[in-house]
This record gives sequence, structure tokens and C-alpha cells, in this order.
Amino acid sequence: MKNKGNFFYITTPIYYVNDVPHIGHAYSTVSADILARFKRLSGFNVLFLTGTDEHGLKIEKEALSRGIFPKELADNVHIKFKELFNSLDISYDRFIRTTDEDHIKTVQKVFSELISKGDIYLSDYEGWYCTPCETFLTEKSLLNGNCPECGRPVERIKEKSYFLRLKKYEEKLLKYIDENPDFIKPSFRKNEVVSFIKEGLNDLSVSRTSFKWGIPVSGDDEHIIYVWFDALINYLTGAGYLNYRRDDGYDTENDLTDAGVNADANADNENNFINYFDNLHHIIGKDILKFHTVYWPIMLLALDIPLPKTVFAHGWWLMDGKKMSKSLGNVVNPVEIINTYGEDPLRYYLMREVTFGLDGDFTLKNFITRYNSELANDLGNLVSRLLAMLRKYRNGVVPMSSEINTDLIANALNLRDSLDKRYENFEFSKILEDAFLFINKINKYINDSAPWKIDVNNETENKFLDSVLRSSVISVYYVSYFIYPFMPGTSDKINFMLNVKRFSDGGKFLVPDDVFKEGFKISDESVMLFPRLNISGSKNQG
Ligand code: ME8
Ligand code: MG
Repeated sequence: MKNKGNFFYITTPIYYVNDVPHIGHAYSTVSADILARFKRLSGFNVLFLTGTDEHGLKIEKEALSRGIFPKELADNVHIKFKELFNSLDISYDRFIRTTDEDHIKTVQKVFSELISKGDIYLSDYEGWYCTPCETFLTEKSLLNGNCPECGRPVERIKEKSYFLRLKKYEEKLLKYIDENPDFIKPSFRKNEVVSFIKEGLNDLSVSRTSFKWGIPVSGDDEHIIYVWFDALINYLTGAGYLNYRRDDGYDTENDLTDAGVNADANADNENNFINYFDNLHHIIGKDILKFHTVYWPIMLLALDIPLPKTVFAHGWWLMDGKKMSKSLGNVVNPVEIINTYGEDPLRYYLMREVTFGLDGDFTLKNFITRYNSELANDLGNLVSRLLAMLRKYRNGVVPMSSEINTDLIANALNLRDSLDKRYENFEFSKILEDAFLFINKINKYINDSAPWKIDVNNETENKFLDSVLRSSVISVYYVSYFIYPFMPGTSDKINFMLNVKRFSDGGKFLVPDDVFKEGFKISDESVMLFPRLNISGSKNQG
């Protein structure tokens, strides 16, 4: 065992590749990125996993309708997700694809392990299937003969199938939910899960024989593994399950090389698998709560692996009150927004506009209002005028002063001390709200102090100017720290202008007096943070 240290494992759903990404996919991934960045900055050893879900009937059908192979579809579409995540500045540690060799091996291994343990058995399935939801349905759960989730037509299936025992783990799961109030978040979602379990769980069909696009069961390749069983295991693959279980007769050296995985590159995960699983948090949308709080924990119970600490189900982004979805044709394309306004304003709007966990309406009008008033005016102007004053009055040197504004510093310290708890509760919007109240407090302080009226030849007034400048610089350094997880590019620019190491380059947040020592000089260069937008939303020139 290596030194345990502080580990933090954060995941997003892995997204289907039947269609290009939209705002909803950006949302889950940005929120996970924010946690990853905050935890890294707090000194944690972070593993942040995202990726694509590439198997199953839905993908096979979509590929067929386009006249290409499913793998071709996945190859094309997964790139769109990667491109989006790169342009959103997502700091994932791995982008996993369910067609990756090590994932295929992991899924097959888990399946075989559960067969040997008797938790997966062969039988016959007869019932209904919703392809868009990739879900098995019982007769009595149908609504007017359609899928109760999405309302679309279902298909009758009758085939040999492997089943995962669920009933056996009902009590253990209920106990875990009961004893771990933070497991299902927001807590108002807990009841729907508990009552679903209490209705009694039917063993879950986990293989199909009637189509081909999936991971074959090893030793019985008539069967391909159910896409949800396959998908959930990505969380095991990404943390290095193959290495972790290699003592069970798994030949890491050869098998991983066969799997196209560099065993050395993965060596770090070797001992950390359990450390990561001991502090695992999933972010998902509320549509896939049951999979993550019933089937997935039961798979882990069967494998004797610790259950996740949190499954946080966030709400929907709506357009005009309806869920954004391709079939409704009301999706907002995140790539267009990023190209027009930049990635940080989008990240900011998504996390600021709606309390995490609730639904919200996406409107360009609100987006532009927040951009202009909060980002361009409040934050952008604060930084640019402060730096201009420093250059004008002090040649860019941050003055020393024994009179630091206590009100500002107290506010900054309070905010800093609230962060751990707030992040633990996924209170993203609140963190930003607090940060911007602080920003406006700095603005007001500068306005009230009116440094431009100061007579620099008067010693007392000149000393006061030192105090205003130093207090403001220290405060802006705090601001850069507070906004970093949400707007890393903006924080980077501020740190660059302040001439301190960027947090994204491994810079730590330091005691301000240790940074701004006697003679410390800010950068000579200025970068525009948020060019103002006119009403139609295009950037003003100059
Ligand atoms: O369900 N608002 O993939 P998926 C907010 N492959 N979030 C939204 C959204 C919206 N309008 N639309 C989608 C799958 N999302 C499976 C997951 S995980 C092991 C397998 C987000 O492509 C939200 O996170 O349908 C939701 O849960 C996810 O995208 C569903 O993506
Ligand atoms: Mg979906």
C-alpha cells in the first residue's frame, strides 16, 4: 500500500454517440470539472473520468440508418465530445470509450467473476424493451403500451439471457442508503429510489442475443453484454480495476499489453484503485438515477467493492419549458455559444443561473444579461481599473501597507472557509453568488475610496492610496482563487496580469502577504477579460 493521501474520484455519465453533444452534456461535464479543479487546488490526488457510451442497439440502429458501421459512428461522434470538452477547458484525466480494449477486458472479467460467484445466471427473458432508453420493461410498467420514461414505442423481446441477481442485495442496499444520507443527492430524490427498491427488485437481464453491437460474454459469445452493465463498469475500468484484480490470477503484464494499455502508465492506478473508490462521487442527470443508485451499487456489492459516496442527480436544461432533446429539435449547441462568447461565460452561466439539482430554462437573453452586468461590468472592470491604477500611481509595484481593509479581508476569509462545505454540498450557484457579492464589495470600496481624488503629495493621503491599492490587489487575488474552478481561463488571465503562477499550472493559492512582498511588480501586459456585448450578442469592436 502506498501512502494513502487524499484521493478524490469524480465522474460524469458517459454519453451515447448516436448524436452530437448539446448543452446538457456540457453541463454535467463542467460541474464535474469544477469539483476536480477545486479538489486539485486543495491538494487532492484527483481522478476525473468522462467519456462515451458506444455499444447497444440504439447506436447500432443509428449507424445502420446512416449506412455505416457502429464503430465508425462512434469514432466520428466521440471526437465531437472530445472537441467540445477541450474547448470547454475540461481537465479530465481520461476520456474513456466503451470500445477501449481495457474496458472490454474489464467488462468481460467482471461478468465472468459474477458468473463464478453465482450472481449472474443463464435463463430466459420475455418482456419489453425501450431502445431509446436502453431499458427492459415489464408489461405492467408500460404507459398506454409505451415506455413510461420517454413515451416512445417499445419492442417485444423473447430470448435466452443472463441475469444479475438483485433481490439478494435488496436489504444491503436499503441499509446503505439509510446509513449514508449523502449517497443520493439532492436528498429529495431519495424517496423515489427507496420506494422503487421496496416494490421488490426483479433480477436484471444483462445480456442480449438478438443483435451484435456489444461486448461478447467470454466463453459464450452468442451473448453480448447489456449496454448499461457495460457502461457502468467504465467507472471500474477508469480507476484501474484490471491492475487491482491482477492478484486474482490476472496477468497484468501480458493482458494489459494485449489490451493496448501501457502497464507502466497505469502503474500509478495499481494501488490507488481502492483509494479512489473510497472517495468516489458520480454526477449524473436525474434520468439515470435508478441505474446509478440501484443496479450499479448492487454490482459493486456483488463484487465486494466500496459503494460510491455520492450520486448527485442534477436537473434538466429546458428550452421554453421543455426538456432539450434532439427529438424535440430544441437543443442549444454549446459549440456555437463558445465560439461567439468564449467558454468561461458559458461555464459561468450554467453554474450560476440554476441551483444545482433543479431544472432551468436556457435563454440567450439571460445569458447576455449576466455576461454584460456580472462578467464584463463587475468583474472585468474591477480588474482592468485596478491594474490601471497600480500602473499609473505606483509603476506596477504593489505597495506595502500596514492598513489593510479589514472588512474586505474578513469577507474573503469567510468565503474561503465556506468553500469545503459548499463544494461538498454541490452549491455551485451559491459559491458564485458569494464571490460576486465580494467582487462588488471591492468595487464599492474602490469607488468610496476614490483613489483618483487623492493628493499624492500629501503624505497621509498617499499612505491611504497604498492601503487602497494593496487591499484591492489582495482581494482580487482571492477573487481569482474563488472563480478558478468555474472560469479557469479567466483566473489564469488574472494571475498572469498579477504576475503570479496560474492555478492551472499547478500554482497554489498562497498567503497574499507571501506573494505580494516588498517591490513585487505586476505584469506590464493587460488582457481583456470580457469584451462587452451589444444586445444582439455580438462582441463590440475596440
Ligand atoms: O444516459 N439537461 O447517455 P446520454 C441536463 N449513456 N443534462 C442533460 C440533458 C438536459 N437537457 N440532456 C442530457 C446515457 N443530459 C448513458 C449514461 S453512464 C454509465 C451511461 C446529461 O447520452 C445528463 O447528465 O443519454 C444525463 O444524465 C446524460 O446527459 C445522459 O446522456
Ligand atoms: Mg439519454
